[in-house]
Amino acid sequence: MSVINILPVTLRNKIAAGEVVERPSSIVKELIENSLDAGSSSIMIDVLRAGKRLIRVSDNGAGMDREDSLLSFERYATSKIKNEEDLFNIVTMGFRGEALSSIAAVSKIKMMTAPQGRMGTCVEVIGGEAREAKECPATGTTVEVKDIFFNTPARRKFLKSDSTENYHIIDVITREALAHFHTGFVLRMDGNDVLNLPPASSHRERLMQIFGKDFVDGLIHLEAENNQMSIKTFAGRVTSLRNNKNNQFIFVNKRPIKDQSITGAVYKSYESLIPKDKHPIFFVFIELNPHKVDFNVHPTKREVRFEDTKGVFDFVYQTLKAGISKDAGYNPPQAEQDTEYRIQEAVSSRQDAGYRIQRKQDTGYISEESSYFYPESRLKIPEAQVSHIPDHVESISFIYLGETFVAFPHKNGLTIMDYHAAHERINYERFLKKIEIMPYRLLFPQQVKLQAGEHRVIIENLQLLNEFGLEIEDFGHGTVIVRALPEMLKDADMNALMSDMAASLLSSEFRVQGLESNEEIEPLNSRKKILAARLACHSSIRGKEVPDRTKIAELLKNLDNTENPKCCPHGRPTRIFISMDELKKMFKK
Ligand SMILES: Nc1ncnc2c1ncn2[C@@H]1O[C@H](COP(=O)(O)OP(=O)(O)OP(=O)(O)O)[C@@H](O)[C@H]1O
Ligand SMILES: [Mg+2]
Repeated sequence: MSVINILPVTLRNKIAAGEVVERPSSIVKELIENSLDAGSSSIMIDVLRAGKRLIRVSDNGAGMDREDSLLSFERYATSKIKNEEDLFNIVTMGFRGEALSSIAAVSKIKMMTAPQGRMGTCVEVIGGEAREAKECPATGTTVEVKDIFFNTPARRKFLKSDSTENYHIIDVITREALAHFHTGFVLRMDGNDVLNLPPASSHRERLMQIFGKDFVDGLIHLEAENNQMSIKTFAGRVTSLRNNKNNQFIFVNKRPIKDQSITGAVYKSYESLIPKDKHPIFFVFIELNPHKVDFNVHPTKREVRFEDTKGVFDFVYQTLKAGISKDAGYNPPQAEQDTEYRIQEAVSSRQDAGYRIQRKQDTGYISEESSYFYPESRLKIPEAQVSHIPDHVESISFIYLGETFVAFPHKNGLTIMDYHAAHERINYERFLKKIEIMPYRLLFPQQVKLQAGEHRVIIENLQLLNEFGLEIEDFGHGTVIVRALPEMLKDADMNALMSDMAASLLSSEFRVQGLESNEEIEPLNSRKKILAARLACHSSIRGKEVPDRTKIAELLKNLDNTENPKCCPHGRPTRIFISMDELKKMFKK
């Protein structure tokens, strides 16, 4: 007997919908893109309960007549392409004719639409079945989506908290609005104005509407063109980095995408100018002939495939590299003289630790390769070894190795400390236990303009932030006012601090990626811990500040008083010890 079934149409549609509609923000994205394709100059988005109750998108675009309004809910019904050739010359945001049918398969939809100056139609579709089409007055098109996943409860369960889903909705709209700056966008969430972006005349103006003038003035603006493509970029300075990737945006032919290769080219442009665990801010707008790019490679059109990936990579890299290096006042050395001082996977017992120190001398800078890296398998630091700290730390002599590393000679060997990690551990425990968090009241309260998504997350968590000594008030329009903050954060870059706090508050809903816990490393499983870790990072000394003897002594003493002196809150070691025996082995003695 056959075990293969042909699935019924309703189930097929639900499966197809699963690919397009991941969460409320996917619906918002598809509806906005339809409005953009209809030539709208103004798009209004209303959301209730993070889109779980209602998503309403209204535009002033071309609209549809009665026949088309009914057809638009069919699968593969599109006015945007006709044949295979068109598929490789896509100039609209949509082209597959499946967004409306997918949304309709998993929700209750009502659409009011009218061609310019004519009587409109109101269509209701519930779970993919058209219920009614009647005459109604309308201007442009309004689509209302209710009860998302009402007929697929399993999918509904995967939705995150309102706060997270709201963040994704704001993020989607921010990205579309950045690319389509000529169009005005208004977003209301539960009756509150969250975004109000009138039509702008340039990318720069739209960036200013979203991020504020100060932020945009701090970006490096670079443009280039060749016979294949043109690129416009706004890149963050090497002095204003983030701990998260929320401020990274790539657009190809006005389509917001993720692309490993373009991201790789941007990071390469910053190579050896920024620490490995920091992330640059960037906005990359690329325009190229639609024949040279395939947009039909991802169910939510989040990725594209270039005919000439290397050409795109090189173009992005070349455009950014020189501008970023120049802005950083850095000229790459002509010839790098290689090392006199190199210990590489020297001792078998340390091989699994991925232990490598490599110093490039004479050039006066230490390359990315010289950073200490820790392996997936995690560095295990035997108990006996970490306690080898000199007894009288005040009399300590140390060598500064570069970046955040110092080394202490000791009678039984050598201790290398990552002082940033050590400081992070100390401050992390202080924040968590609320000790020595002296409030520092700003003489002039500082206004900080944030991305709308970040702003919302911050104001939803004012109480929690207050527990950590941050006195913040909502000032509306994406702006907060910082009145007081812990003493140890008083020199932090306020914009980066707020943006990172928003990112960590969001990430607390997920498992902390890349920071797997083991019995030695406590899991950062609570909001408070994640926030404390982030605040600790911002309040800890950085590579550029070389600590003096007193500071190092203080760090060592305070580190020993922490509950877990072995590693920073992210699980990276704070210090390692190389015993005399190991040194002897390295020198084959
Ligand atoms: N807001 C709108 N204004 C005018 N016409 C619209 C609007 N939304 C949808 N349509 C019409 O309905 C058709 C179907 O929309 P749908 O989003 O399902 O497919 P698409 O946009 O053609 O392709 P894709 O599935 O890639 O989005 C569109 O091709 C367009 O003709
Ligand atoms: Mg569409």
